[in-house]
Amino acid sequence: MKKVAIVFVLIIIGIQFFSVNKTNPPVNEGLDAPPEIKGIFKRACYDCHSNETNWPWYASVAPVSWLVADDVEEGRKHLNFSEWGNLTRKKIAHTKEEIWDEVKNDDMPLWQYSLIHSKARLSQKDKELIREWTGQGEAE
Ligand code: HEC
Repeated sequence: MKKVAIVFVLIIIGIQFFSVNKTNPPVNEGLDAPPEIKGIFKRACYDCHSNETNWPWYASVAPVSWLVADDVEEGRKHLNFSEWGNLTRKKIAHTKEEIWDEVKNDDMPLWQYSLIHSKARLSQKDKELIREWTGQGEAE
């Protein structure tokens, strides 16, 4: 039993050498939206969907760091508010639709994120504001 524990500790120490790339690239043309909308996205989405990620301390500890970095990398790929100004009008319309789709169904923010970041949880009021801003149909 003791041997298992030692091996386990050694593995945990060993994987710390596989660090991840935690970068915040420059913000280009950021999101152009009313402050109350931007405020909601900043507290609920920006950690994964912008270049202004607040990297938490546990993002430095493997294997959690791998999961966090992966979410940010994937998140930025799908939607990056820091690149908003570079989107065409058509792409903006489409992205807004996608945003409402995710918010309406409670698919975003990711549940494991909301679990730790209570400020990221969206109230009915937040959702209503997002719905209006995205120009989508009535809440369901
Ligand atoms: C903890 C990280 C994280 C947070 C916080 C987060 N997202 Fe995401 N988001 C992701 C990841 C990872 C993906 C890509 C994989 C997926 O769709 O699950 C994604 C995908 C998306 C997509 C694209 C879906 C598609 O079909 O391509 C939209 C839109 C989106 N998120 C909106 C939001 C909004 C709006 C918020 C805040 C209310 C938010 N996300 C918060 C990680 C996050």
